[in-house]
Amino acid sequence: MELVSGDLTEQHVDAIVNAANSSLLGGGGVDGAIHRRGGPDILAECRALRASRYGRGLKVGQAVSTTAGRLPARWVVHTVGPVWSADEDRSPLLRDCYLNSLAAAAELGATSVAFPLISSGVYRWPKDDAIRQALQAVADSGTTIPTVRLVLFDAETLTVAKRIAARSGT
Ligand code: APR
Repeated sequence: MELVSGDLTEQHVDAIVNAANSSLLGGGGVDGAIHRRGGPDILAECRALRASRYGRGLKVGQAVSTTAGRLPARWVVHTVGPVWSADEDRSPLLRDCYLNSLAAAAELGATSVAFPLISSGVYRWPKDDAIRQALQAVADSGTTIPTVRLVLFDAETLTVAKRIAARSGT
């Protein structure tokens, strides 16, 4: 998996992955940036998903795709990360976000996908473990998508990610 720092909304890939919430109706962080930069078409498709297959919202660990609107990407794959919990291990759910997003992107025919560090912002997952879970999930996925990129929001987090990747050999 490629490790870069930057803004997910500026990635020139086929699909970017949104760290959404179960409402699919927008929020802050990456979610806010994607809707702000991508424009209203993304939210319109999210509303349509809520009005049809996802009446009760998107479950944690699941993924669903929409247009990317005005963004350089062609699609946005929305996934809902688990909120960090100190007393229960939700890491399988966090890994499901990566696995199910890769499956959704492959279904679209995407040949390049960019992820943010899911759950490591508002949802308070410690960044180093969020990185470990991302690396583990993508390594275990067996994905055939040629380009899978993790976009860290700042240089410091990128340094941590590179150190963890070097140690785990992924
Ligand atoms: N590009 C890349 N990474 C970003 C960007 C961006 N434009 N904006 C934020 N990040 C980083 C954050 O620094 C964090 O490391 O993405 C990671 C995920 O943070 P959040 O966006 O807060 O996502 P998450 O922790 O999964 O919380 C999801 O926050 O925005 C709301 O609607 C969203 O309720 C949902 C919750």
